[in-house]
Amino acid sequence: MAHIPEEFIDQLRQRTDIADVVGSFTQVKKRGSDYWACCPFHKEKTPSFKMDSQRQTFYCFGCKKSGNLFHFIQEMVNTDFVGAVHWLADRYGLTVPETRRRGDGAASEQRRQWREQGQKLLNEAADWYHHLLKQPEAEKARAYLKSREIDDETIEKFNLGYCLDSWDALCQWASSRGYSPELLEATGMVSKKDGSTSFYDRFRDRLIFPIHDELSRVVGFSARLLAPDAKAPKYVNSPETDFFQKSSILYGLNHARASLKTFGHALVCEGQLDVIACHRAGLSNAVAAQGTAFTENHARLLKRSTSNIVLAFDPDTAGTTAAQRTIALLHEVGLTVSVVSLPLDEDPDSIFRHGGAEALRSIMSATEPAVPYLFRRACDTHDLNQPEGKSLIATDVLTAIRPLADPIARTAHCQWLATQLNLPENIVFDALNSLQASHARHSATSFQPPTAPADRAPTPLPTFTMPEDNEKVWQTIFDLVLHFENLALLLADDEEITRLLPDTPLGMAISRVLACVDQDSWPDAADSLCHDDLIRHPTVGAVIAKSAFPYRAKPKATTPVSTLSAEPEEEEDISAEKTTQAYEDCRKKLQLAELARISQEKQLALQTAEGEEAKRLMRELTELNRKKRLL
Ligand code: UTP
Ligand code: MN
Repeated sequence: MAHIPEEFIDQLRQRTDIADVVGSFTQVKKRGSDYWACCPFHKEKTPSFKMDSQRQTFYCFGCKKSGNLFHFIQEMVNTDFVGAVHWLADRYGLTVPETRRRGDGAASEQRRQWREQGQKLLNEAADWYHHLLKQPEAEKARAYLKSREIDDETIEKFNLGYCLDSWDALCQWASSRGYSPELLEATGMVSKKDGSTSFYDRFRDRLIFPIHDELSRVVGFSARLLAPDAKAPKYVNSPETDFFQKSSILYGLNHARASLKTFGHALVCEGQLDVIACHRAGLSNAVAAQGTAFTENHARLLKRSTSNIVLAFDPDTAGTTAAQRTIALLHEVGLTVSVVSLPLDEDPDSIFRHGGAEALRSIMSATEPAVPYLFRRACDTHDLNQPEGKSLIATDVLTAIRPLADPIARTAHCQWLATQLNLPENIVFDALNSLQASHARHSATSFQPPTAPADRAPTPLPTFTMPEDNEKVWQTIFDLVLHFENLALLLADDEEITRLLPDTPLGMAISRVLACVDQDSWPDAADSLCHDDLIRHPTVGAVIAKSAFPYRAKPKATTPVSTLSAEPEEEEDISAEKTTQAYEDCRKKLQLAELARISQEKQLALQTAEGEEAKRLMRELTELNRKKRLL
């Protein structure tokens, strides 16, 4: 597997500044040595999003999101770590070197080069098609765009193009640039004639919509007829290739991702022209699965940026069936769904052309929650006044309620449905349960429980669930050991407390500090946490962003000595006294909680114990109480 060398990631970290990266999404202001911005992850008017330039981390005091530079990009650009590295490298004009893991030979290097070439070819082909749109041969295509009222700005933004009326124009163009026919085939832009070795252009004399992934890389094309033709399909699309996987690409997402947060929802339409119309009307949160069914992958892609989906599907039967299926799927993934009912025989594109931006925005804002929508549609097809009709309506609606993970929402929806059907609630719940049972049976036959990988030991279960207030205590301890070396040293030797460390992100963060202490590198603890996913945990992020203790620990050895001597000695003494006191308080609270837990266990055992066993438990309980009083 390709692997990005650690040195390159370090190099990127050094070269980039988080304030600069955040600045490309939202306005950043400098205050003291810190940078602040209005949080790009939630709506706000006054900045509560703080960036730490030295550590390259962020923390929002409003929504409590935190992380490092790469986490920020992952969230904003909707990608994973590798995607974030590429995005950042692109910005700074660097090429990501990918080394091979040991045992991986030249074959993988070849694969990497193949992919890189294919990606280059796709991007260049899109630009070539776009260039052709401006040539004399493309008069028809320009006329078509004009007839659909698509302006130049839109043509540029979506990089629309035209493919010549030829069987080999693309093949010729590509070969003149040194691309092999095999690479052309791998990108899906050409086909092979049956029983022949020669290739021909897949897209001919059509309007070209390049399809981008969320990183704005061209992955495929959708090509539309310019004039109605009963014999030809309206659209010819790229086939599934290594570059283009329909089920996880949403048209328009590269333009929509930044605004999903501000809108608070994604607007899912049916086709490219609909997405384009929405974006022109200011609805920059529009995307489309374009010609294929909406899949779970699509849903997960959106879930990274929003938890609310608005579906704008055709009001015809195909559209309604698609909406039904899509709602259940989105519920399954844990998203909230509403539906826009488009007027009959209209789609977002035609609404925009006839009524303008205002009309489209107004129609798109009239949303109806998914469950009432499904009920209404079911009543159009079945008779609510007939017993059999009722049953069919109930099944239609319950199919979408069943996958909801939140039991309260599920119950509330059932109660509502019972009222609409004029049936007792328990009947509707029974119907839901039998639907659930049949679903479970169905998935049981196809579901294989995952087997634990042989080379990994099973994760030990946490010894106890942490009570709420213990969480606060551990948070204070984390703050103390992260900012005060003397306390970190103290805790490292404090076995009574360290054995209670919870198996939570907070506990793991404390362990990380202790691990640094073990290696005589306590000053590196904070940086080490900043480079880790642990910083994404709100409590961990909060403590790294700001200590609750007013006195700072001695600055790192790397800080110039001159600033050190400016601090009066006395103040440091008070600091040490206060913080040690805080540490002792935390210790006591944890010990008390632990004693309480053991007492509870013994008391429980005592309820069923007899004879000697009961006496022993009584003695132990008395001893525990004595310890508690001592503390
Ligand atoms: P539409 O038929 O609504 O496309 O299909 P359109 O271009 O908006 O049609 P008109 O001009 O208003 O009549 C919606 C989407 O379905 C996919 C395309 O992605 C299209 O954008 N589609 C449609 C195909 O993939 N293949 C087809 O043959 C038709
Ligand atoms: Mn249309």
